[in-house]
Amino acid sequence: MDNKTIAARVQALLAEMTLEEKAAQMVQVPVAYVGHEEALRWARLGAGSFLHVLGDEARELQKAAIEETRLGIPVIFGIDAIHGHGLNDHATIFPSQLAAACSWNPEVAYTMGQVTAREVATDGLHWTFSPVLCLGRDTRWGRVDETFGEDPYLAGEMGAAIVRGYQGDDLSDGEHILACAKHYIGYGEAVGARDACDTEMTYRKLREVFLPPFKKAVDAGVASIMTAYGSIDGTPFTSDRTTLKDILRGELGFDGFVVTDWDNVTSLVHRQHVAGTVQEASVMAARAGNDMIMTTTAFYDAVIEAVRAGKLEESVLDEAVRHILTIKLRMNLFEKPEKAGRPGCFGCAEHLAKAKDAADKSLVLLANNGVLPLQPSVKKVAVIGPNADDIRAQYGDWTYFTHPKPNLAHEPVRPYVTVKEGVEAACKAIGAACVYHRGCSVLDGEYEDIAGAVSAAKDADVIVLVVGDVIPQIGEEKDRAVLELSGRQMELFDALRALGIPLVTVLVASKPLAVGRAATDADAFLCAFNGGMFGGEAVAKALFGEINPSGRLPISFPRSSGQVPVYYNSLPGWHALPGRGYCDLPRTPLYAFGEGIGYSAFAYDGLTLDEKTLEASVNVTNTGSMTGTETVQAYFSDVVSSVITPVKQLIAFRQVTLAPGETKKVSFRFAREDFSLVNRQEQRVTEPGDFVLRIGHSSRDEDLLEAAFRL
Ligand code: BGC
Repeated sequence: MDNKTIAARVQALLAEMTLEEKAAQMVQVPVAYVGHEEALRWARLGAGSFLHVLGDEARELQKAAIEETRLGIPVIFGIDAIHGHGLNDHATIFPSQLAAACSWNPEVAYTMGQVTAREVATDGLHWTFSPVLCLGRDTRWGRVDETFGEDPYLAGEMGAAIVRGYQGDDLSDGEHILACAKHYIGYGEAVGARDACDTEMTYRKLREVFLPPFKKAVDAGVASIMTAYGSIDGTPFTSDRTTLKDILRGELGFDGFVVTDWDNVTSLVHRQHVAGTVQEASVMAARAGNDMIMTTTAFYDAVIEAVRAGKLEESVLDEAVRHILTIKLRMNLFEKPEKAGRPGCFGCAEHLAKAKDAADKSLVLLANNGVLPLQPSVKKVAVIGPNADDIRAQYGDWTYFTHPKPNLAHEPVRPYVTVKEGVEAACKAIGAACVYHRGCSVLDGEYEDIAGAVSAAKDADVIVLVVGDVIPQIGEEKDRAVLELSGRQMELFDALRALGIPLVTVLVASKPLAVGRAATDADAFLCAFNGGMFGGEAVAKALFGEINPSGRLPISFPRSSGQVPVYYNSLPGWHALPGRGYCDLPRTPLYAFGEGIGYSAFAYDGLTLDEKTLEASVNVTNTGSMTGTETVQAYFSDVVSSVITPVKQLIAFRQVTLAPGETKKVSFRFAREDFSLVNRQEQRVTEPGDFVLRIGHSSRDEDLLEAAFRL
């Protein structure tokens, strides 16, 4: 259907709809929360959408919406399919967004989106509340695992790719679903990383740092945007017309619909205290540009009464409903309310292979004194630690263990491979022995047998210690003030280290914890984050050299909790000069954005830059003895600018696979806009003057070649 036909059909529908039908169309009902009967009542009332419902229950609600309402407008079902359709326990579970971002490979994000969409569509649903385009700059925040890391450029590239994967080229086809870029905007920037609190943000900063990933998602055609819980300079994002209308629709040209986050409307009353009643809050939210209201079912009566009392123009509802119906028509829902999907695709061989590939590409090796890869001559491996055999910790947030209601007792559904299982299988293949001991729990007081772990490991050739975090430390309202390894994990490390046996530390965690000497005093340190179903198998493959870990950090590792935030693209200042820092700690992170070594080493030389065409190239050589993939990273700095600009900012990256000894020339073509800033008038401009282009292996100064140029 072309846009003109869609617009005409929407107009015709709107002309027929009563005030009540319009208000209902704006409501999204939480099924797991209100229960089936109440959900059915809402379907008959003409609710526009439901969330957190699967398969046959969704089909029943759809039937009621179509057959038992006057206009038969189909509903859309939304679900948090965040790293795979994980609330359905038979779906394919991918690495977390943060782990996937370690691949620095938009193709990985695209594939995750595509596979997830197919499984969601097959389950009778239409819409995922993904991707998260907030930045993970303050890593105390409980939701860092859901981000693509700390950098706006990388997050935008990965975000746009996953949106394309979810939505495909045509929203009406049977295998693609709606994406939802969230949380708009600045959610990760809450002061003190206190989930959903105020941000210290100005509109200029918002435009400079936090808007670019959303712009890329809009340019990729994202069909929906979710508002954030937080606020900007005292105005909740839910009631902020500037961000929701002027910027999102006016400047970015967004033409989908906006959904609030969970109960944002009543939060205006009870949490943010900018409205006295739910009716006031509903009017504010509708006027500001929220089209669909998640979970606040009281919105329905509130706006109907408000319109009748002359406190709200019905045209505000028309506008919102127009946005929702336009997407429903673009999906061709009136003709085909349910997507065809691909029966039998849940956890099919093709999807599992994609999850394996994503897990392989998400591993980041950060330290290695030569102990890795393990040699086939190894006779005995000891796998120790609380996260070596904990599939819940390996998955992290947003699976059937955590949502719609936490259920850690849920029986894990195969297939999946933990680190213990992966290493056991690898050992078996080479005839080596493998022992496992948990050692301690991640949380204090649950389990502790450090002596038992030491005795299990004492005659091993190598110890693989798997540490990290667990579900009670991950997700909404689970911000951490202390990022050091919790429980007795450090004691376990020290006791094992004292054995003098080669020791590899593996991090299975939702985010960069302050791992300290568990990484620096180990012989090797491998970061796996939440690798999904095959995270453990990927770790084993990397340990034994079956794959050459090629991931790079999308986020910085702090040296201690007190160093957070420690993102690379900070603004300069006296105490940020090289060599300076805290009086008790360096300024630099433990592991920097872009870092990752793998089993190959790469040398850079011959950086050239043509000032006229803005074409740059550099030679990259694999100086190691194994074929490896390097991520060539390009950053720039603005030497003198009207506002303070970041010390460096990523503007491009390319991946290149090189055989041992092989050299390839890697080229970039930049545009003037790549070197832009947001000035005091909040305009994105490129200011003429001197710049420095930096290209190399990571964001660390010592890893980058420089070329000065003038614009
Ligand atoms: C989260 C969103 C999520 C929604 C629905 C909220 O609490 O902030 O990210 O999509 O719940 O589950």
